[in-house]
Amino acid sequence: MFQNLNRLSESVSIQEHDIVFGVETSCDETALAVLRGDELLANRVSSQVAAHRPYGGVVPEIASRNHVAALPILFEETIRQAGIAPGDIGLVAATRGPGLASSLLTGFTFAKALAVGLRKPFVGVNHIEAHLLSPFFGSRSVDPCVGLVASGGHTLLVDAAGLGEYRLLEGTRDDAAGEAFDKAAKLAGLPYPGGPEIDSLAKRGDPKRYNLPRSMLHEVGMSFSGLKTAVRYLMPKIDPGDVPDLCASFQEAVVDVLVRKSLHALERTRRGTLAASGGVACNSRLRERLSEESRRHGFALCLAEPWLTTDNAVMIAHAAQRHAERGFPCGKAGLESDIDPNLKLVLTGETGR
Ligand code: KG4
Ligand code: ZN
Repeated sequence: MFQNLNRLSESVSIQEHDIVFGVETSCDETALAVLRGDELLANRVSSQVAAHRPYGGVVPEIASRNHVAALPILFEETIRQAGIAPGDIGLVAATRGPGLASSLLTGFTFAKALAVGLRKPFVGVNHIEAHLLSPFFGSRSVDPCVGLVASGGHTLLVDAAGLGEYRLLEGTRDDAAGEAFDKAAKLAGLPYPGGPEIDSLAKRGDPKRYNLPRSMLHEVGMSFSGLKTAVRYLMPKIDPGDVPDLCASFQEAVVDVLVRKSLHALERTRRGTLAASGGVACNSRLRERLSEESRRHGFALCLAEPWLTTDNAVMIAHAAQRHAERGFPCGKAGLESDIDPNLKLVLTGETGR
């Protein structure tokens, strides 16, 4: 059935101006995007935040049901926004993992059906790699860099020699940075998702008011769960009026760890560029601190645009496009592939510092 589309042994390649259609449904955002070269023709994100807010976090079954309902409508809107006909699509790409199994399945299956219907090639994309590459959207190359990916599901530092050449430097042992923001916010009685709430309340708080822990600064790895526990113990002792100070102190602690670990990674790898991505890279204090450090230490800072930091399909289409331009070997990521909720970033070098 998939003859001449893309079998395991084949590779997908596209020309510079071929249209790439991206699909992202790894968690609670239903997102579709259309790229033609560097030109962004359409970018649609249907947020489910309101549906999950009463539960203080993402409920997998609600997420997948909402994806199923949103995808066909969003598809029509995306095609209209892009000003293309479905037949103009040259490559269909969708998030293969990591993420929630039932959420991944909806977008992955939708995208495969689209590719089969249009008789166009399909590639599955690693969500972490898509974040990692997102700071380079719009600049035709992936510079050798230290990549900081800080999202709700993952927090890691990668030594990237180029596209597909990654070495893990260190990652969190427990909560991801975004997860810590969300959990601390929940403890402080703030709505989901906690990152943007804490970011905005911290603007009128004192970051030095509470001295919160910065774990594992001198060891390989990161840990944010102790920070969350510290917030749990503090909460009963503080007044509602102190919440902005708590937010500022908490944010400062997370940002401090991410910045110090990034500086250490730059020093160890001798890379001249730091590329920061993932939902937490939207944080205003992290962006400010990284900019200050880049001026102080003279490294190039490549920050993903704020709209590209949280989950979106532009980064999925972009990652697929980058690989397909070089002849993407379908391997486990073509039409015959399956989702993988625990998919890891494919590493080409040894882990460690
Ligand atoms: O990359 P993303 O959309 O999804 C995952 O791949 O996980 O990241 C979502 C995470 C959430 O935990 C959210 O609270 C956090 O990013 N986030 C922020 C900010 N905006 C989103 N964290 C801190 N400050 C922000 N401004
Ligand atoms: Zn993400």
